[in-house]
Amino acid sequence: MSRLPGAADEEARERVGPRGSGSGPEDGPGERSSVLEARAVSKSFRQGPVLLEVLQGAALSVAAGERVAIVGASGSGKTTLLQILGGLDRPSSGQVLVDGRDIHRLTEKERGELRNRALGFVYQFHHLLPEFSALENVAMPLLVRRVPVAEARKSAREILERVGLGQRLEHRPHQLSGGERQRAAVARALVTQPKIILADEPTGNLDGLNAESVFALMLELNRERGTSLVVVTHDTRLADRMERIYEIEKGRLSERLTPPLRRGESCTGT
Ligand SMILES: Nc1ncnc2c1ncn2[C@@H]1O[C@H](COP(=O)(O)OP(=O)(O)OP(=O)(O)O)[C@@H](O)[C@H]1O
Ligand SMILES: [Mg+2]
Repeated sequence: MSRLPGAADEEARERVGPRGSGSGPEDGPGERSSVLEARAVSKSFRQGPVLLEVLQGAALSVAAGERVAIVGASGSGKTTLLQILGGLDRPSSGQVLVDGRDIHRLTEKERGELRNRALGFVYQFHHLLPEFSALENVAMPLLVRRVPVAEARKSAREILERVGLGQRLEHRPHQLSGGERQRAAVARALVTQPKIILADEPTGNLDGLNAESVFALMLELNRERGTSLVVVTHDTRLADRMERIYEIEKGRLSERLTPPLRRGESCTGT
Protein backbone atom coordinates (compact mmCIF):
# COMPACT_ATOMS: atom_id res chain seq x y z
CA MET A 1 0.00 0.00 0.00
CA SER A 2 1.50 3.34 -0.99
CA ARG A 3 1.91 6.05 1.59
CA LEU A 4 -0.42 8.99 1.71
CA PRO A 5 0.53 12.22 -0.04
CA GLY A 6 2.45 14.37 2.43
CA ALA A 7 0.59 17.67 2.20
CA ALA A 8 0.44 18.45 5.91
CA ASP A 9 3.68 17.22 7.34
CA GLU A 10 3.96 20.21 9.64
CA GLU A 11 0.67 19.17 11.25
CA ALA A 12 1.83 15.59 11.59
CA ARG A 13 4.84 16.81 13.55
CA GLU A 14 2.58 18.86 15.81
CA ARG A 15 0.65 15.73 16.55
CA VAL A 16 3.48 13.60 17.94
CA GLY A 17 2.83 12.69 21.56
CA PRO A 18 -0.12 13.67 23.75
CA ARG A 19 -0.98 17.35 23.68
CA GLY A 20 -1.28 19.02 27.06
CA SER A 21 -4.42 21.00 26.32
CA GLY A 22 -5.58 20.85 29.92
CA SER A 23 -9.03 19.65 28.82
CA GLY A 24 -8.23 16.04 29.56
CA PRO A 25 -10.67 13.37 28.46
CA GLU A 26 -12.85 12.23 31.30
CA ASP A 27 -14.04 9.16 29.47
CA GLY A 28 -11.39 8.82 26.75
CA PRO A 29 -9.41 5.61 26.78
CA GLY A 30 -5.91 5.37 28.26
CA GLU A 31 -3.81 8.51 28.24
CA ARG A 32 -4.83 9.81 24.85
CA SER A 33 -5.97 13.41 24.95
CA SER A 34 -9.38 14.44 23.69
CA VAL A 35 -9.56 16.13 20.28
CA LEU A 36 -13.33 16.31 20.10
CA GLU A 37 -15.77 16.62 22.92
CA ALA A 38 -19.50 17.21 23.13
CA ARG A 39 -20.89 18.36 26.48
CA ALA A 40 -24.62 18.19 27.17
CA VAL A 41 -25.56 18.89 23.57
CA SER A 42 -29.26 19.27 22.89
CA LYS A 43 -30.95 20.16 19.64
CA SER A 44 -34.56 20.80 18.84
CA PHE A 45 -36.28 21.97 15.71
CA ARG A 46 -39.47 23.99 15.85
CA GLN A 47 -41.97 23.19 13.11
CA GLY A 48 -44.97 25.43 13.68
CA PRO A 49 -46.46 24.46 17.05
CA VAL A 50 -44.37 21.28 17.31
CA LEU A 51 -41.00 21.18 19.03
CA LEU A 52 -38.99 18.23 17.78
CA GLU A 53 -36.33 17.29 20.31
CA VAL A 54 -33.74 15.43 18.26
CA LEU A 55 -30.84 15.35 20.74
CA GLN A 56 -31.03 15.54 24.51
CA GLY A 57 -27.90 16.04 26.57
CA ALA A 58 -25.53 14.21 24.23
CA ALA A 59 -22.02 13.72 25.63
CA LEU A 60 -19.15 12.27 23.67
CA SER A 61 -15.40 12.36 23.81
CA VAL A 62 -13.02 11.30 21.07
CA ALA A 63 -9.33 10.86 21.78
CA ALA A 64 -6.50 11.61 19.40
CA GLY A 65 -6.16 8.68 17.03
CA GLU A 66 -9.37 7.03 18.15
CA ARG A 67 -11.96 5.39 15.89
CA VAL A 68 -15.58 5.90 16.86
CA ALA A 69 -18.81 4.86 15.13
CA ILE A 70 -22.21 6.49 15.57
CA VAL A 71 -25.18 4.27 14.78
CA GLY A 72 -28.93 4.64 15.06
CA ALA A 73 -32.15 4.32 13.07
CA SER A 74 -32.97 6.62 10.18
CA GLY A 75 -34.16 9.95 11.56
CA SER A 76 -32.59 9.37 14.98
CA GLY A 77 -30.32 12.43 14.72
CA LYS A 78 -26.96 11.13 13.47
CA THR A 79 -26.46 13.75 10.76
CA THR A 80 -27.71 16.45 13.12
CA LEU A 81 -25.12 15.41 15.73
CA LEU A 82 -22.29 15.22 13.19
CA GLN A 83 -23.11 18.67 11.83
CA ILE A 84 -23.09 20.10 15.35
CA LEU A 85 -19.75 18.38 16.07
CA GLY A 86 -18.31 19.89 12.90
CA GLY A 87 -19.58 23.41 13.60
CA LEU A 88 -21.95 23.33 10.62
CA ASP A 89 -25.07 23.61 12.77
CA ARG A 90 -25.58 25.12 16.23
CA PRO A 91 -26.78 23.16 19.24
CA SER A 92 -29.85 24.50 21.07
CA SER A 93 -27.70 24.15 24.20
CA GLY A 94 -24.41 22.56 25.18
CA GLN A 95 -20.83 22.84 24.01
CA VAL A 96 -18.56 21.29 21.41
CA LEU A 97 -14.80 21.44 21.83
CA VAL A 98 -12.74 20.82 18.70
CA ASP A 99 -9.07 20.55 19.46
CA GLY A 100 -9.78 22.27 22.79
CA ARG A 101 -11.76 25.20 21.33
CA ASP A 102 -15.48 25.78 21.69
CA ILE A 103 -16.34 25.81 18.00
CA HIS A 104 -19.74 27.45 18.47
CA ARG A 105 -18.29 30.42 20.32
CA LEU A 106 -15.87 31.38 17.56
CA THR A 107 -16.52 33.98 14.89
CA GLU A 108 -17.56 32.66 11.48
CA LYS A 109 -14.02 33.26 10.19
CA GLU A 110 -12.33 31.52 13.12
CA ARG A 111 -14.74 28.61 12.85
CA GLY A 112 -13.93 28.26 9.14
CA GLU A 113 -10.21 28.25 9.91
CA LEU A 114 -10.56 25.66 12.67
CA ARG A 115 -12.65 23.50 10.37
CA ASN A 116 -10.12 23.74 7.55
CA ARG A 117 -7.20 23.02 9.87
CA ALA A 118 -8.61 20.29 12.10
CA LEU A 119 -11.62 18.68 10.43
CA GLY A 120 -12.34 16.71 7.30
CA PHE A 121 -16.03 16.36 6.62
CA VAL A 122 -17.55 13.62 4.45
CA TYR A 123 -21.19 14.60 3.96
CA GLN A 124 -24.04 12.14 3.53
CA PHE A 125 -24.61 13.76 0.14
CA HIS A 126 -21.43 14.73 -1.56
CA HIS A 127 -21.55 18.58 -1.87
CA LEU A 128 -18.95 18.78 -4.63
CA LEU A 129 -18.81 22.11 -6.44
CA PRO A 130 -20.51 21.53 -9.83
CA GLU A 131 -18.45 23.98 -11.87
CA PHE A 132 -15.11 22.44 -10.91
CA SER A 133 -13.43 19.19 -11.97
CA ALA A 134 -12.85 16.31 -9.57
CA LEU A 135 -9.18 17.33 -9.32
CA GLU A 136 -10.05 20.96 -8.57
CA ASN A 137 -12.67 19.97 -6.00
CA VAL A 138 -10.16 17.80 -4.14
CA ALA A 139 -7.35 20.37 -4.39
CA MET A 140 -9.62 23.14 -3.04
CA PRO A 141 -9.11 22.63 0.73
CA LEU A 142 -5.34 22.70 0.18
CA LEU A 143 -5.57 25.92 -1.86
CA VAL A 144 -7.61 27.45 0.95
CA ARG A 145 -4.62 26.63 3.19
CA ARG A 146 -2.36 28.40 0.70
CA VAL A 147 -0.58 25.25 -0.42
CA PRO A 148 1.10 26.06 -3.79
CA VAL A 149 -1.10 25.09 -6.74
CA ALA A 150 1.27 22.48 -8.22
CA GLU A 151 1.63 20.74 -4.86
CA ALA A 152 -2.11 20.87 -4.18
CA ARG A 153 -2.86 19.34 -7.59
CA LYS A 154 -0.25 16.63 -7.06
CA SER A 155 -1.71 15.65 -3.66
CA ALA A 156 -5.23 15.75 -5.10
CA ARG A 157 -4.19 13.53 -8.02
CA GLU A 158 -2.51 11.01 -5.73
CA ILE A 159 -5.47 10.68 -3.41
CA LEU A 160 -7.94 10.45 -6.33
CA GLU A 161 -5.82 7.63 -7.74
CA ARG A 162 -6.04 5.91 -4.35
CA VAL A 163 -9.84 5.92 -4.51
CA GLY A 164 -9.82 4.62 -8.10
CA LEU A 165 -10.54 7.92 -9.85
CA GLY A 166 -7.18 8.40 -11.56
CA GLN A 167 -8.97 8.30 -14.93
CA ARG A 168 -11.64 10.82 -13.91
CA LEU A 169 -9.55 13.80 -12.83
CA GLU A 170 -11.07 16.29 -15.27
CA HIS A 171 -14.66 15.09 -14.90
CA ARG A 172 -17.16 17.51 -13.41
CA PRO A 173 -19.42 16.11 -10.65
CA HIS A 174 -22.40 15.68 -13.01
CA GLN A 175 -20.19 13.54 -15.27
CA LEU A 176 -19.36 11.17 -12.42
CA SER A 177 -21.51 8.30 -11.17
CA GLY A 178 -23.02 8.55 -7.68
CA GLY A 179 -20.38 6.26 -6.17
CA GLU A 180 -17.59 8.13 -7.97
CA ARG A 181 -18.87 11.40 -6.54
CA GLN A 182 -18.89 9.86 -3.10
CA ARG A 183 -15.29 8.71 -3.52
CA ALA A 184 -14.25 12.16 -4.76
CA ALA A 185 -15.92 13.67 -1.69
CA VAL A 186 -14.02 11.27 0.58
CA ALA A 187 -10.78 12.19 -1.19
CA ARG A 188 -11.54 15.87 -0.63
CA ALA A 189 -12.10 15.32 3.10
CA LEU A 190 -8.88 13.34 3.50
CA VAL A 191 -6.52 15.37 1.33
CA THR A 192 -5.59 17.80 4.10
CA GLN A 193 -4.87 14.92 6.49
CA PRO A 194 -6.98 16.51 9.22
CA LYS A 195 -6.83 15.66 12.92
CA ILE A 196 -10.42 14.46 12.88
CA ILE A 197 -12.55 13.02 10.10
CA LEU A 198 -16.30 13.31 10.52
CA ALA A 199 -17.91 11.01 7.98
CA ASP A 200 -21.64 10.63 7.41
CA GLU A 201 -22.31 7.27 5.75
CA PRO A 202 -19.07 7.44 3.73
CA THR A 203 -19.77 4.10 2.07
CA GLY A 204 -23.55 4.47 1.74
CA ASN A 205 -23.56 4.56 -2.08
CA LEU A 206 -20.62 2.25 -2.72
CA ASP A 207 -20.36 -1.39 -3.75
CA GLY A 208 -18.23 -3.78 -1.67
CA LEU A 209 -14.96 -3.16 -3.49
CA ASN A 210 -15.20 0.62 -3.52
CA ALA A 211 -16.38 0.66 0.09
CA GLU A 212 -13.25 -1.33 0.92
CA SER A 213 -10.96 1.17 -0.78
CA VAL A 214 -12.61 4.05 1.08
CA PHE A 215 -12.35 2.18 4.42
CA ALA A 216 -8.75 1.31 3.71
CA LEU A 217 -7.86 4.92 3.06
CA MET A 218 -9.52 6.13 6.25
CA LEU A 219 -7.93 3.39 8.34
CA GLU A 220 -4.53 4.12 6.83
CA LEU A 221 -4.80 7.78 7.83
CA ASN A 222 -5.84 6.65 11.29
CA ARG A 223 -2.88 4.30 11.58
CA GLU A 224 -0.18 6.42 9.97
CA ARG A 225 -1.21 9.92 10.99
CA GLY A 226 -3.19 9.32 14.17
CA THR A 227 -6.29 10.82 12.57
CA SER A 228 -9.39 10.36 14.72
CA LEU A 229 -12.37 8.90 12.88
CA VAL A 230 -15.98 9.62 13.77
CA VAL A 231 -18.12 7.66 11.35
CA VAL A 232 -21.89 7.51 11.06
CA THR A 233 -22.66 4.21 9.43
CA HIS A 234 -25.19 1.45 8.94
CA ASP A 235 -22.40 -0.74 7.61
CA THR A 236 -21.58 -3.24 10.34
CA ARG A 237 -18.26 -4.16 8.71
CA LEU A 238 -17.15 -0.55 9.07
CA ALA A 239 -18.61 -0.15 12.57
CA ASP A 240 -16.79 -3.31 13.64
CA ARG A 241 -13.47 -1.73 12.81
CA MET A 242 -14.06 1.15 15.19
CA GLU A 243 -12.88 1.04 18.78
CA ARG A 244 -16.07 2.39 20.28
CA ILE A 245 -19.65 2.59 19.12
CA TYR A 246 -22.17 5.23 20.19
CA GLU A 247 -25.84 4.73 19.55
CA ILE A 248 -28.60 7.34 19.30
CA GLU A 249 -32.01 6.22 20.39
CA LYS A 250 -34.98 8.44 21.25
CA GLY A 251 -32.75 11.50 21.42
CA ARG A 252 -30.26 9.92 23.80
CA LEU A 253 -26.67 9.13 22.90
CA SER A 254 -25.13 6.20 24.72
CA GLU A 255 -22.05 4.11 24.32
CA ARG A 256 -22.41 0.47 23.41
CA LEU A 257 -20.22 -1.91 25.26
CA THR A 258 -17.56 -3.23 22.92
CA PRO A 259 -14.99 -5.93 23.66
CA PRO A 260 -12.24 -4.37 25.84
CA LEU A 261 -9.61 -5.86 23.55
CA ARG A 262 -10.63 -3.60 20.71
CA ARG A 263 -9.83 -0.45 22.67
CA GLY A 264 -6.49 1.00 21.69
CA GLU A 265 -5.85 -1.79 19.18
CA SER A 266 -4.45 -0.60 15.93
CA CYS A 267 -6.59 -1.73 13.05
CA THR A 268 -4.68 -3.64 10.45
CA GLY A 269 -5.60 -4.69 6.97
CA THR A 270 -8.94 -4.46 5.26
N1 LIG B 1 -33.59 21.62 9.65
C1 LIG B 1 -34.48 20.79 10.18
N2 LIG B 1 -35.71 21.22 10.52
C2 LIG B 1 -36.62 20.39 11.06
N3 LIG B 1 -36.38 19.09 11.36
C3 LIG B 1 -35.18 18.61 11.04
C4 LIG B 1 -34.16 19.41 10.45
N4 LIG B 1 -33.05 18.65 10.26
C5 LIG B 1 -33.37 17.42 10.71
N5 LIG B 1 -34.63 17.39 11.19
C6 LIG B 1 -35.30 16.21 11.78
O1 LIG B 1 -34.46 15.68 12.77
C7 LIG B 1 -34.48 14.27 12.77
C8 LIG B 1 -33.07 13.74 12.66
O2 LIG B 1 -32.56 14.00 11.36
P1 LIG B 1 -31.13 13.50 10.91
O3 LIG B 1 -30.92 13.97 9.52
O4 LIG B 1 -30.15 13.90 11.92
O5 LIG B 1 -31.35 11.91 10.97
P2 LIG B 1 -30.32 10.72 10.64
O6 LIG B 1 -30.16 9.92 11.88
O7 LIG B 1 -29.09 11.28 10.02
O8 LIG B 1 -31.16 9.88 9.58
P3 LIG B 1 -30.67 9.07 8.27
O9 LIG B 1 -30.08 7.77 8.76
O10 LIG B 1 -31.96 8.87 7.53
O11 LIG B 1 -29.70 9.93 7.51
C9 LIG B 1 -35.37 13.86 11.61
O12 LIG B 1 -36.62 13.48 12.13
C10 LIG B 1 -35.49 15.11 10.76
O13 LIG B 1 -36.75 15.19 10.15
MG1 LIG C 1 -28.29 11.20 8.11
